[in-house]
Amino acid sequence: MSSTPPSDEFATPAGEETPVPDDLDVLAREAVAELGTIADLVRWGAARLDGAGVAFGHGTGDAVDEAMVLVLHAAGLRPGPPEPLFASRLTTRERRAAVGLIVRRIRERVPAPYLTGRAWFAGLELACDRRALVPRSPIAEWIERGFEPWLDPDAVERVLEIGTGGGAIAIACAMAFPGATIDAVDVSDDALALARENCAAHGVEDRVRLSRSDVYAGVRGRYDLIVGNPPYVDAETMASLDPEYRHEPRIGLEAGPDGLDCVRRILAEAGGRLRSGGVLVCEVGASRAALERAFPTTGFTWLELERGGEGVFLLTGAQLAEFPGTG
Ligand SMILES: C[S@@+](CC[C@H](N)C(=O)[O-])C[C@H]1O[C@@H](n2cnc3c(N)ncnc32)[C@H](O)[C@@H]1O
Repeated sequence: MSSTPPSDEFATPAGEETPVPDDLDVLAREAVAELGTIADLVRWGAARLDGAGVAFGHGTGDAVDEAMVLVLHAAGLRPGPPEPLFASRLTTRERRAAVGLIVRRIRERVPAPYLTGRAWFAGLELACDRRALVPRSPIAEWIERGFEPWLDPDAVERVLEIGTGGGAIAIACAMAFPGATIDAVDVSDDALALARENCAAHGVEDRVRLSRSDVYAGVRGRYDLIVGNPPYVDAETMASLDPEYRHEPRIGLEAGPDGLDCVRRILAEAGGRLRSGGVLVCEVGASRAALERAFPTTGFTWLELERGGEGVFLLTGAQLAEFPGTG
């Protein structure tokens, strides 16, 4: 007699595009029937994710971390539970949920935060869905540090975030700069709707003012900090994105032939929009080389990133006043 339940709950749906291992359904049913603890399921999930060659980069760096996120979600736990809990056994329903998430992660190549509906940024739990990119900017660690020594967190009164998506950077800035109001803009109404929900969940809707604006078009006044993780993926990279990134809004990624369409616009006007002593902080990721080629005489400060990631620059108001194209 077979030890696996006669179920087709993990069967490949019709029209499936991503190749999945032939035996995934069998393995999934075995896992539900035979495994017991959180640790068992994380080990099983990591092996399946590695074997399937899924791409990481939406908050985790490898298969074990990714499996951990999915299994803990199914178990109703937040990330980083006390070690002894990994040995606790899950109910059949919880095992089915965990295995189901891992199977979907492989079969649909959906980023884990879109499967769980949750993401963490600068220690904050946020709602996360396809209305906006999965928050993962390495700027988080600098927000937590209040951008010291570049800024005095207690003196920051006005912050502008360009391209807020689901609101992660704006909300984290509201936490880091308790005396500041944050203007957070985006061109996507969907993203702004998600940001509104996240601001309300964190009780910062009075200090984070969300609005639709094409870069600076709807913005008035000067700021102590302009911060942004704008779209910066170049055309060649867009053409070969891993499937996971194709679930995200294209408008959050695509930025012209060299990835600098939006960044050029941010740079061109930033000088006239900063207060004395203000700074611009902007992520350009792998488009750093293109930016340095485009502006060879600009002394970008590339911020050190202890938690990984790449391509976050800082420019002072004084540097931006001299910036080519400023006028
Ligand atoms: C890379 S996502 C970053 C989202 C969020 N800040 C984060 O770090 O997760 C870039 C965001 O910029 C927005 N965007 C694209 N073009 C824009 C423009 N011209 N003006 C304002 N926002 C723009 C996109 O809709 C998207 O939400």
